[in-house]
Amino acid sequence: MLVTGGAGFIGANFVHHTLRHHPEYEVGVLDLLTYAGNRNSLRTVADQIELHQGDICDAALVDRLVARSDLVVHFAAESHVDNSLSDPEPFVRSNLVGTFTLLEAVRRHGARLHHISTDEVFGDLALDTTDRFTETTPYDPSSPYSATKAGSDMLVRAWVRSYGIHASLSNCANNYGPLQHVEKFVPRQVTNVLTGARPKLYGGGVNVREWTHVDDHNSAVHLILERGRPGETYLIGSGDERSNRQIVEMVLELMGLPRDDYDRVPDRPGHDLRYANDTTKIRTELGWRPRFADLRQGLAATVDWYRENEWWWRPGKELTESRYRRAGR
Ligand code: NAD
Ligand code: TYD
Repeated sequence: MLVTGGAGFIGANFVHHTLRHHPEYEVGVLDLLTYAGNRNSLRTVADQIELHQGDICDAALVDRLVARSDLVVHFAAESHVDNSLSDPEPFVRSNLVGTFTLLEAVRRHGARLHHISTDEVFGDLALDTTDRFTETTPYDPSSPYSATKAGSDMLVRAWVRSYGIHASLSNCANNYGPLQHVEKFVPRQVTNVLTGARPKLYGGGVNVREWTHVDDHNSAVHLILERGRPGETYLIGSGDERSNRQIVEMVLELMGLPRDDYDRVPDRPGHDLRYANDTTKIRTELGWRPRFADLRQGLAATVDWYRENEWWWRPGKELTESRYRRAGR
């Protein structure tokens, strides 16, 4: 199995999950180790995997690694909406050209591909409805990030239909858990508190996300690898929707601070209001169920992880906050 982006948040958790629960796989990782990739996330399993530092846009390298793999699980991407607003170029390159490069290698060598994507490809939902995205909701991405992820999904589908490659796709809701970069919402707030700063809430904090534990995302991906139908797309999500304000308040409470001890900062341009996935297909077809049913418990464990692993997140914290300061957020 070749895992692209295996030194990033979800990819590294996927590598650990795979080694723990599916020892039948030999795992190779291809990761450029951008600012978001972290070799330390794989430190405890370094002797059980092959880690290749390299670019998914490097056709010769990708060809060589895919030729030796039966299965490619494709996590590698530029993943942060705020960064895509300030500099979209790496998003077009890694998310579109990178996925194209992998697809061509998969086509040449007949490997199976599972493409990891996001519910952000569908655009957003109104706050005052109970509508949910389904596998057939038309794409309507808002940000450079989601537009490039939407494009990469389209490329995968076209390669399935036109060239008959064996590929599946999944679009998951927002993830939380250990090993997530401090630029993202939950770790930013937790590490702000741990460094004596206040959490930062964009705009009024009314935007809603469906928070899914990273291990539940990865168990869903493994089910798709085992029992998913070729060419199919599966939506993944816990069903637990919360406003950003509710999350900040919960984090503050879990960390023993007053619930209103946060700053409001200027909103993100084009900020998507609400995401929510209808996960009937993966639940009924594959029998998937999230194990982290209690968000509060999952967040408490995540807070503990950041408390206990300052060595892991501290080196990136100041640079991340200086980027946010430049953006006024
Ligand atoms: P991340 O930013 O933490 O990790 C991305 C990894 O990809 C990093 O290790 C980085 O070094 C690597 N990478 C980037 N460009 C590369 C390139 N050109 N070549 C090789 N490696 C490269 O992201 P994440 O949160 O772990 O997200 C992983 C995947 O899951 C992405 O495809 C993302 O769109 C998708 N996703 C994320 C979420 C979420 O909530 N984080 C939700 C749904 C889907
Ligand atoms: P983020 O983790 O960037 O994920 P996405 O934008 O892909 O959903 O942000 C999650 C939500 O939190 C989003 O609505 C933006 C908001 N947010 C804040 O309010 N403050 C912050 O400091 C950050 C990083 C995000």
